[in-house]
Amino acid sequence: MKNIKAIIFDAYGTLFDVNSAAEKCKDKIGDKWEGFANFWRNTQLEYTWLRSLMKRHRDFWQITEDSLDKSMMAFDIDSSMKSELLNLYKVLSPFDEVNETLKILKKKSFKLAILSNGTPSLLKELVKSNNLDNLFDDLFSVEEVGVYKPDSSVYDLPIKKYQIAKNEVAFLSANTWDVSGGGNYGYKSIWVNRHNNIFDKLDYKPDNQIKNLSELINLIKK
Ligand code: 2OP
Repeated sequence: MKNIKAIIFDAYGTLFDVNSAAEKCKDKIGDKWEGFANFWRNTQLEYTWLRSLMKRHRDFWQITEDSLDKSMMAFDIDSSMKSELLNLYKVLSPFDEVNETLKILKKKSFKLAILSNGTPSLLKELVKSNNLDNLFDDLFSVEEVGVYKPDSSVYDLPIKKYQIAKNEVAFLSANTWDVSGGGNYGYKSIWVNRHNNIFDKLDYKPDNQIKNLSELINLIKK
């Protein structure tokens, strides 16, 4: 992958493990913790897409709380767990290879940025709590445009800031629908497929597929 000027990362699910909040509470939640975590994540994403289609925007923190309420009721989890789960969601763990990979890419003087549904304050707290804040040039949030991915106005944000061509961006996401969103927009998209998932049929096939971010080092050239 040549002529790349900026490497743009999705946050939730790609850099940060969205299930790590529920996993840290698995002793209290019990065996159903993983089913609950997946239900919470899927409901959260459904709400982003539905609110964008209905043009009734609420920010990602509100949606995360609303989807948690539904999920806790659906899995019969005591409401006393709510604040602990929300607080853990603010400081989700990065995947193991993230820090090392970003440090190497930073030395190669690429523009490095996050492009996420998360609010500016959520993204700041996520990177700061994991000591990653000095590695990113920008934290782009959908709050700048008031509509969620995969709306094209979201993928416009780094292009407008960096004044580069769409195909000079390498866009990474673990969320297949987000890879299709970025790819259909015109980015060079890379699917981070950690769990051998199946890709979507949304008029797009990713330029590349990697198991984890460390494979990026040899894949991307200036
Ligand atoms: C993100 O925008 C898709 O939720 C994921 O970070």
